[in-house]
Amino acid sequence: MAIRKVARMGHPVLRQKGRKLSAKEIQSPEIRQLVTDMIETMDEYGGIGLAAPQVHESIQLALLGFDEESDRYPEMGNQDLLVVINPTVTVLDKTPQSFWEGCLSVPGLRGLVTRPRKIRVDFTDLEGKPQSIEPEGFLATVFQHELDHLDGILYIDRVEQGPGVTKFAFQEEYDRYLTPEPGDEVGEMDD
Ligand code: NI
Repeated sequence: MAIRKVARMGHPVLRQKGRKLSAKEIQSPEIRQLVTDMIETMDEYGGIGLAAPQVHESIQLALLGFDEESDRYPEMGNQDLLVVINPTVTVLDKTPQSFWEGCLSVPGLRGLVTRPRKIRVDFTDLEGKPQSIEPEGFLATVFQHELDHLDGILYIDRVEQGPGVTKFAFQEEYDRYLTPEPGDEVGEMDD
């Protein structure tokens, strides 16, 4: 087991599209080891998701998982640890929802991102079996953020920016000026 170094914005691996894994690779000891290391890395950094490109592996593999004991996401329920390989995403409900997203690869910053509220993800699991899940709400945002990483997309690409717009901030300024009030329609999400 080993904690892997997380790639930060500016490293080219974060901007590459990850390659798909073959059935044989999925069952390989190397991928088992990678997943074990990614779980340990995610725990160490306190993320709720981690994509392989974030640990310098340009492949279509990501982890997600959090539980309600996480005091940061008390009302979000839980998601058992899931290994998602070679995913495809279909939008089921285009209704926009917004979360203040953060990313282990873009530390110290936060941005308001609007995404569809419900999707379907078809993927292969670690046993090589096809799976499908239909996340909505917060979980739909977590999936979209993680799976974007597999295509070389960072959340900052999806933040509205320009004169008069304050949707992208350092954490300190976010805490001071932008934290959602109770009753606001937006929440927070970090991978
Ligand atoms: Ni991220």
